[in-house]
Amino acid sequence: MAETRQQAAKRAEQLRAELERHNYLYYVLDQPEISDAEYDRLFNELKQLEERYPGLVVPDSPTQRVGAEPLESFRQIEHPRPMFSLANARNRQELEEWRRRLSKILKDAGEDPDAVTYVTEPKIDGLAVSLVYRDGHLASGATRGNGEVGEDVTNNLRTIGAIPLVMRLEPGEKPPSLVEVRGEVYLPLAAFERLNEERAAVGEPAFANPRNAAAGSIRQLDPQVAAARPLNIWCYQVGYSEGLKLDSHWQALEWLRGHGFRVNPEMRRHEDFTTVYDECLAWEERRPQLDYDIDGAVVKVDDYRLQDILGIAGRDPRWAIAYKFPPSTAETKLLEIGINVGRTGALNPFAVMEPVEVGGVTVSHATLHNEDDIHRKDIRVGDTVIVQRAGDVIPQVVGAVTRKRTGGEKVFHMPEHCPSCGAATVRPEGEVVVRCPNRSCPSQIVESIKHFVSKGAMDIDGVGEKLVERLFELGLISNMADLYDLRREDLVGLELSSSINEKGKRVPHRLQEKSVNNMLSSLEESKQRPYHRVLFALGIRHVGSINAQLLAARFPDIDLLADAGREQVAEVDGIGPKIAEAVEEFFAEPRNRETVSRLRRAGLNFAVTDAEAGAARPLEGTRFVLTGTLPTLSRSRAKELIEAAGGKVSSSVGKGTDYVVVGENPGSKAEKARELGKTILSEDDLVRLTEAG
Ligand code: IVH
Repeated sequence: MAETRQQAAKRAEQLRAELERHNYLYYVLDQPEISDAEYDRLFNELKQLEERYPGLVVPDSPTQRVGAEPLESFRQIEHPRPMFSLANARNRQELEEWRRRLSKILKDAGEDPDAVTYVTEPKIDGLAVSLVYRDGHLASGATRGNGEVGEDVTNNLRTIGAIPLVMRLEPGEKPPSLVEVRGEVYLPLAAFERLNEERAAVGEPAFANPRNAAAGSIRQLDPQVAAARPLNIWCYQVGYSEGLKLDSHWQALEWLRGHGFRVNPEMRRHEDFTTVYDECLAWEERRPQLDYDIDGAVVKVDDYRLQDILGIAGRDPRWAIAYKFPPSTAETKLLEIGINVGRTGALNPFAVMEPVEVGGVTVSHATLHNEDDIHRKDIRVGDTVIVQRAGDVIPQVVGAVTRKRTGGEKVFHMPEHCPSCGAATVRPEGEVVVRCPNRSCPSQIVESIKHFVSKGAMDIDGVGEKLVERLFELGLISNMADLYDLRREDLVGLELSSSINEKGKRVPHRLQEKSVNNMLSSLEESKQRPYHRVLFALGIRHVGSINAQLLAARFPDIDLLADAGREQVAEVDGIGPKIAEAVEEFFAEPRNRETVSRLRRAGLNFAVTDAEAGAARPLEGTRFVLTGTLPTLSRSRAKELIEAAGGKVSSSVGKGTDYVVVGENPGSKAEKARELGKTILSEDDLVRLTEAG
């Protein structure tokens, strides 16, 4: 290209601004406007320009986020103002004592303690950093260190996309000569889990919690390490500034947000103290849904003038306090590894542990995924293990505390016989899962019937897991099609379980007429479920709800699918050879064909109706935001449903949002949605929408 140096310089500047804008849209607002490929194209254009004209490279260039050389050691940086820590409150009483102490000081100083406003925010469990911007440009970034002096980790912090290299300014706005922005760098929980697995695979010890993982990533001399980890930041304070006048913490947060910094959208300002404790509890409720770990909520006095009056006690400011939650990871002993046999015959190992409190809940069982995972994490029976409860209701074992080994721990091996039916187990080449190959294995049958009736599948309200087990035990069902042959007289009065009363007498619990009516009407109603739901409910291996929709769209009648053969099935966009093989295997089994025809005779949908054919993707082009706990659907399941229907899910409510799905204990997203007049949906509304047509 024969551009002049001047043209190149102009284009480079354009590209830098453009790339930083897309970084901001992607990392800070979570509302990207362009695809990753388009971003890469712009990035490469800039990189090539800078290669042709090395003089154009500036430290703020997006190309300089990665690629700095490893350091010999970290330089020390003195913070412009000391970084303090926070005093803790562990319960409501301690929180109120804090408020009484500060009220007294303010009263003595002639202030009205009832006129104090507060700000509540999450206490991120990560690594505190200080970012210094000179004339709007990131000049340095440091760890907290001893509070006065930290380590210069600028090159590592630059790799974090959400940290602006240049702050965002209004046209004509002059940046303050100096601003120190403080925040918490963290590793998202999913990345934390993945990282620990990778470490165990190469024999490195697991990080005990996401905080250690974030600190371990930032305190590395080679910036490539930080660049390879999806670190993120929440900014929560302006530490020191020159040329910027702020009167309150809330103003500082708004200033930060307005200048391109990632500020948690759920921070709240309180006109008085009455709602502060409730908000701390709300954070505790929200905690399991967050993709970052928080160890408490921080309460701050908003007004800077009052903060100054309150001052510092030792290392802790009197104007702030951390309301701490019980820790979300804990150590306990792994007593035993148990096995569940799933509906596809997979032997699923789970941990049986000495009961321990994690995140305020007593836990004694946790998932262990599969044998390889157990070995990758080097978890042995008898080990002291780290259990985590976060992001998910099911606790996880993240790793073993190897230094606490006594030598008596035992390496785990999957059983050679199915614990349910005794058949010899198999582990197919290239698979991580050990299976029971016996298709008549009672565990597999019961589990597949449970899947059939479950919410995402046939959604048969009146038939729960326990009832399925009992009906199977009694020989009333031995197949999902048997459900539709159940008769009232077989069910009313059926003994479900029994208990012993105060007099030591056994009291049977029987199925009541009302429950039976409910069961039968749910079964009847389930005949209305669309074909793709029925297909999913059959429980064909690898055919989840999305694959079922893809298959139903291509093979609008199950007979077409049953006779298709794997090549034809694999031609469907989004369906791979593994799925196609599983479909073929399923229909090769006469028993499965028999089940399908019995269900069809019972009146279930095995073909796409005309109405469905017209609206396969009813939510095409619509944007959703999820907040709060939904009654039955997990976050990921709700997201799957939306995406399958053509919709998109984003994390914050904005102009582009169409619907906000609100569950229990919603965050401020629900408020924001109401403010912006967005349509609020319940789980039921959502399910109905995704099925529209
Ligand atoms: S304010 C008052 N706000 O908690 C000065 N700190 O225990 C303290 N932290 O070193 C900083 N989230 O690493 C503040 N929203 C938040 C925070 C927060 C996490 C960390 C920070 C600090 C430690 C104090």
